[in-house]
Amino acid sequence: MTDRVVLAYSGGLDTSVAIGWIAAETGAEVIAVAADVGQGGEDLDVIRERALACGAVEAVVVDARAEFADEYCLPALKANALYMDRYPLVSALSRPTIVKHMVDAARKFGASTISHGCTGKGNDQVRFEVGIAALAPDITVTAPVRDSGMTRDKAIAFAEEKSLPIDVTKKSPYSIDQNVWGRAVETGFLEDVWNAPIEDVYSYTSDPTVAREPDEVVITFVDGAPTAIDGAPVTMLEAIQQLNQRAGAQGVGRLDMVEDRLVGIKSREVYEAPGALTLIEAHRHLEDLTVEKELSRFKRAVEQRWAELVYDGLWFSPLKRALDEFVASASVHVSGDIRMQLHGGRAVVNGRRSQASLYDYNLATYDAADTFDQKLAKGFVELWGLPSKMAAQRDHRLS
Ligand code: ARG
Repeated sequence: MTDRVVLAYSGGLDTSVAIGWIAAETGAEVIAVAADVGQGGEDLDVIRERALACGAVEAVVVDARAEFADEYCLPALKANALYMDRYPLVSALSRPTIVKHMVDAARKFGASTISHGCTGKGNDQVRFEVGIAALAPDITVTAPVRDSGMTRDKAIAFAEEKSLPIDVTKKSPYSIDQNVWGRAVETGFLEDVWNAPIEDVYSYTSDPTVAREPDEVVITFVDGAPTAIDGAPVTMLEAIQQLNQRAGAQGVGRLDMVEDRLVGIKSREVYEAPGALTLIEAHRHLEDLTVEKELSRFKRAVEQRWAELVYDGLWFSPLKRALDEFVASASVHVSGDIRMQLHGGRAVVNGRRSQASLYDYNLATYDAADTFDQKLAKGFVELWGLPSKMAAQRDHRLS
């Protein structure tokens, strides 16, 4: 039987050429797999037809939007996942979703190999290959752009020679990756880290400096998951989509940073993630109200580690799985409403309420209703400071 290769297909020049390139190089039949993770853009049927026209023996397109939202974005929200305290892991979350569907397709079509179009300089090659290794250790991975000299010039020449139905002149000055959780833009004039992004770079967000009326939104959460917006029930996918619109219209969610890639390179990245960053901000504020102090402090360290593992391509790793259990457990009682104002590029929380609130008015107040017994503080403070006091006395004695 002819060998079969499953290719992660985007519909763009590189992966369209890769279909014929892999076939010519290996003699294998190529099965193109495209996943819809809410990237918008071209119709998936058009992408499917193009894959077949470029020589794929099968082309599979999967609507993975709800799965991506529920199984990848939601755990990231519960973990308040921000790599380097800023980046909400847009691309890092979509790659394991895509990997899962590629492995499923490889099994279904009896393919021994999975192929992707990444270069050797980025994180996405790692996420694909480590993800595949974790789900299907028997499967071989190939990467024609990285490993068999499929440069852009050669790809264009190949497309012209074979008359592939793809517009080789259509080249964006940027490398863009987008999905419902956000949008990543790199390369072009952004590679000079002193150059400010121009409005042209953005598509999920409006210019935050333009004057407009603020928008007030109430987000309801149950156990860390958004369940309603302004009282109307939503799925996770709908919550992200609606907030992408509303927060994006107020210029919320833009990010410009220099990022540490796993491969050691520092890269300039511009992101927009209006829905993701609004949800994370709301979720953190609800945690402040409902999560017990020690759990809350400890969770911060777990969040950072979780974000690094996912960034580094270890979505399907034992540590990441174990941390998921912790995060899920810490999310019980993160239920209630957060009111926030979206305006001028910022999402600002201005109200919170919860049946699971740990905020006690009578303990917190400085009014007559005060029930806090201040006498208890005296001994507590004395004992709390005892180790520092002892050390200071020792230092004084020995100096
Ligand atoms: N630097 C980001 C990350 O590693 C975004 C990568 C975007 N990928 C791309 N092919 N443009 O998650």
